[in-house]
Amino acid sequence: MLTIRPFEPGEDLAPLAAFDTSFVTDRTYRVQRTAFSFALEEEPVNPPFRKTYIFDDLGAELKDLDQLLVAELGSELVGYTGVKYESWNRRMVVWHLYVASQHRKKGIGRGLIEGAVAYARKTEARCLWLETQNTNYPAVRFYLRAGFRLCGLDESLYDPRGPGRGEVGLFFARDL
Ligand SMILES: CC(C)(COP(=O)(O)OP(=O)(O)OC[C@H]1O[C@@H](n2cnc3c(N)ncnc32)[C@H](O)[C@@H]1OP(=O)(O)O)[C@@H](O)C(=O)NCCC(=O)NCCS
Repeated sequence: MLTIRPFEPGEDLAPLAAFDTSFVTDRTYRVQRTAFSFALEEEPVNPPFRKTYIFDDLGAELKDLDQLLVAELGSELVGYTGVKYESWNRRMVVWHLYVASQHRKKGIGRGLIEGAVAYARKTEARCLWLETQNTNYPAVRFYLRAGFRLCGLDESLYDPRGPGRGEVGLFFARDL
């Protein structure tokens, strides 16, 4: 049975830090632009694109969040998500969403997002908001199925000399 519950720092950090945060995809979104417009076009990638989200100090990153939820299947931790409220624009920002690779496509990501929505609805927040990348085709498909809409993009977000070089930040929102 799937349980969504708040993070317990003492017990949960080590298993979360051991998660495989990578994904592999055989398609991505190419950003086509003109002077005043952008369009996303699905395109195949061969060989498949692989990315791993790396955290230097996951414990420090998670400490900064307002709410961190974990998904438990039986006694196994199989996913987590975290949110932080921005009072100036009343957005609840989703900072992490990871499901253990062997447990994907079983409804766990959706369960975590619904947990975040339930938390956010008890606050002043007006929407959930997040960033992913044009390369993360699985996440884009997931967010669309989970009730988010594309609300913007930033082709200058990633440093061309840094780990996200060549990627475009895509922003998604779900009204509460
Ligand atoms: C993105 C991620 C969190 C989705 O979690 P999940 O538990 O596999 O998703 P769910 O099983 O809850 O799927 C919910 C819906 O999204 C769809 N979906 C999920 N992954 C998909 C994929 N790879 N391609 C197409 N649709 C997908 C499901 O089919 C389901 O659709 P439904 O409405 O028909 O039921 C998971 O793939 C993951 O951890 N990826 C690696 C880390 C990552 O990229 N995180 C996001 C960083 S921004």
